[in-house]
Amino acid sequence: MKILGISGSPRKNGVTVAMLEEALKAAKGDGAEVELYSVSGKNIQPCDGCWGCRETGKCHIRDDMQELYEKMLGADGIIFGTPVYFYSMTAQSKAIIDRSIIFGHPERSLANKVCGVVACAGSLGLANVLKDYSYYIIQRQMLPAFQVSAYAMGPDNLREMEKCMKALNDLGRQMIALVKLGFKYPTEFVRGPGAFGTHTR
Ligand SMILES: Cc1cc2nc3c(=O)[nH]c(=O)nc-3n(C[C@H](O)[C@H](O)[C@H](O)COP(=O)(O)O)c2cc1C
Repeated sequence: MKILGISGSPRKNGVTVAMLEEALKAAKGDGAEVELYSVSGKNIQPCDGCWGCRETGKCHIRDDMQELYEKMLGADGIIFGTPVYFYSMTAQSKAIIDRSIIFGHPERSLANKVCGVVACAGSLGLANVLKDYSYYIIQRQMLPAFQVSAYAMGPDNLREMEKCMKALNDLGRQMIALVKLGFKYPTEFVRGPGAFGTHTR
């Protein structure tokens, strides 16, 4: 069983990474193979809206997202982590979400993977981030795990927050327990390329 943590913070050793490390440590303690991927120093371009992936399930943009696509597909569970930047997730985190449009292809889907979220902020905007990831989880037909958030400006702040550290530990263990459930989205509703939700004529 593989659990992948993805930090969307440009900081290599910031709060987001510390939160993911705590959750992944717990997952590893319960027997999972874990990996932490950080966007720090990586080249992840925005989606250019070409829609080529509708046909191929692949993205033509040759950047570090190509490696991340394979890591995401190979994981049983993914924990997304982001700091709040201007009341939203970071540009890098949003680029990963947008580039995930390729996973609408039925043969390269995130459906049935367990998805947790960790987020941190100095003061305001956490709810926006958690809401956006909730939409993502629904759109990609994943099984939601806990969403853990913290007001912390540095990893030292975080480590003093006993309840938060416990919640992160719980998230790591919960990921394993949920993967073991073997969640299967009804195949007739696993969508291929195309729209769903609200429609006009
Ligand atoms: C460009 C920028 C914008 C930010 N905007 C917000 C914000 O809107 N709300 C907030 O509470 N914190 C904001 N912060 C603070 C970060 O969310 C906070 O420092 C967080 O702990 C950073 O996480 P990291 O160490 O994982 O990068 C901002 C920080 C930066 C650098």
